[in-house]
Amino acid sequence: MADEEEAKIESRLEGKDIYSPPEGFKEQANVNDPEIYEYAEENYEEFWADKAERLDWYEKWDEVLKWDPPHAEWFVNGKLNASYNCIDRHVKNGKGDKTAIIWEGEPVDETKEYTFSELQDEVSKFANALKEMGVEKGDIVTFYLPMIPELAIGLLACARIGAPHSVVFGGFSPEALKERINDAESEVLVTADGYYRRGGTIKMWENAEKALKNTPSIDNVVLVDRMERDIEINEERDSYYHELVKDQPAECEPEKMDAEDMLFLMYTSGTTGKPKGVVHTTGGYLTGVSATHNWVFDIKDDDIYWCTADIGWITGHSYIVYGPLANGCTTLMYEGSPDYPEKDRFWEIVEDYEVTKFYTAPTAIRLFMKWGEQYPNEHDLSSLKVLGSVGEPINPKAWKWYHEVIGGGDCPIVDTWWQTETGMMLITPLPGITDLKPGSATKPFPGLRADVFDSQGDSVDTNEGGYLVIKRPWPSMLRTLYQEPERYVETYWSEYENDIYFAGDGARKDEDGYFWVVGRLDDVLNVAGHRLSTMEMESALVDHPAVAEAAVVGKPDELKGQVPVGYVILESGNEPSDELAQELRAHVGEIIGPIGKPAAIRFSDDLPKTRSGKIMRRILKKLEKGESAGDTSTLRNPDIVKELKDKVQ
Ligand code: WT7
Repeated sequence: MADEEEAKIESRLEGKDIYSPPEGFKEQANVNDPEIYEYAEENYEEFWADKAERLDWYEKWDEVLKWDPPHAEWFVNGKLNASYNCIDRHVKNGKGDKTAIIWEGEPVDETKEYTFSELQDEVSKFANALKEMGVEKGDIVTFYLPMIPELAIGLLACARIGAPHSVVFGGFSPEALKERINDAESEVLVTADGYYRRGGTIKMWENAEKALKNTPSIDNVVLVDRMERDIEINEERDSYYHELVKDQPAECEPEKMDAEDMLFLMYTSGTTGKPKGVVHTTGGYLTGVSATHNWVFDIKDDDIYWCTADIGWITGHSYIVYGPLANGCTTLMYEGSPDYPEKDRFWEIVEDYEVTKFYTAPTAIRLFMKWGEQYPNEHDLSSLKVLGSVGEPINPKAWKWYHEVIGGGDCPIVDTWWQTETGMMLITPLPGITDLKPGSATKPFPGLRADVFDSQGDSVDTNEGGYLVIKRPWPSMLRTLYQEPERYVETYWSEYENDIYFAGDGARKDEDGYFWVVGRLDDVLNVAGHRLSTMEMESALVDHPAVAEAAVVGKPDELKGQVPVGYVILESGNEPSDELAQELRAHVGEIIGPIGKPAAIRFSDDLPKTRSGKIMRRILKKLEKGESAGDTSTLRNPDIVKELKDKVQ
């Protein structure tokens, strides 16, 4: 954006840092009575029961919530099916011809649309194919797919037959895929031959094949022929998706699932050890995601809703597939990158489909800002009504740009704070009620209680920093970590009393009770909205034969929020060089996936360590931020800090 443009926006906004819901918006909003907060605070079980009533149940629950901290069961003994709720009931209610999914491929003009009836057929066929393959209720099916319709169809097919899915983000490495398949002991992998990215081809099949060398549990591989590539398959193990579904009947009776049956598993990075298998269940999850989606995006029957996330992350599960479809809403999926063929692709899509509700991440917004407003300005974006943000804190400057340039100054922005573990948005505005403050995710969703604690477990004073906690269970909360029940208790419920959820984020609460989340407090990086563990990157580095020791810390980055930087001590006999740095970066990329590639490698003979030999990552972090290292007197080797400082600058 030109400087004077920016100055114009900044000055117009000066002194006006509160954005009330536009009058016209308020009137038509699905929820606009602020009293809902008091009602839900006092009657939170009734509040959630009411939200659960929005779904169709085969059998109603006996009890809304059984809370035996830190273990929750929601809608006890209730029976339902998520696939039925996302598809069949809409068909039954006369919406069979409404578009359920709009899919836009990366190649321009490659699009597909599925009505709810068509989706019902496709999902049923694939569900039947999975059954024929021997998949039964409770078997975990792993997906490693690009953003193609088969991914959404696959999840719903699994949900239909009660087979939990585990989606591994398509940008992850073979190593990461292998680890997740083995942890889940999946017998079936659904993958593709490849996909388009910036006009080029990503060879997904080669990655899958690498992983499949060490996944003894896999009996069957379903291959989607996305690119019609000429590849060699293993006839015994592999079958093409289109051949499998071709002759299947288009009816498949949905399995009656218990509210607490696992709907899916989603791996996420933790501070230590292997990725955590976050377990989400059926009744509470679907209640939570559909209710939040409806209120936060103010969903109407004629909405065209677009969330730009990848279904490989929780955002895609909750707010591309389950939330929108449970609400009978048209959901748009885009396969490719925002700058192909030109940097206006997103805005072209918004204009073409007349997108009304749009959900993206701050890292993308900062990128659009950098590209300049000429790209959105080439398009008619007047269909937009609500804009969402998720993944990391959004800086006020990006917020205002989003509001002005994309929203034309009159779309509420919903900055939604939540996590893989929370399943649904927890701290978020309601666009017809909440006065917005750029940079704040505002207030807990009705029925929730959040707070900021000090290390003793007391609420901190207004505007003081501390640890973000959630003080009440919510329906779509994770139930456990797959096969690691103790780690579940330890990670989330042991910092304070066992009914206080520890989010791992730092935050403050202002004088109006608004939450300002600052980011992770643990050794987890947020790289372009992706949660990555520094520990995994460190073990990837030391896995290289030239590396003796390594520490990875985050460096602030204007576009991505944070980028990883690797500090490396080499094994003797190895010399630092640019080539070696490139090799190490590539090596981490191989093991974790391209998003985990360190932005820089800093070679050193030593690292700041405590007397007991522990690397003081805190000091490295400060150096990367350009801050002073602070007190180094307790270090075994304080001199190294100065040396490193020179390298960083
Ligand atoms: C972490 C969760 C939730 C889906 C995407 C990420 C950060 C997320 C916000 C926000 C400030 C945010 C937090 C959180 N985060 N949304 N609106 N404002 N920070 O899911 O990979 O589980 O990461 O993302 O640090 O703990 P995730």
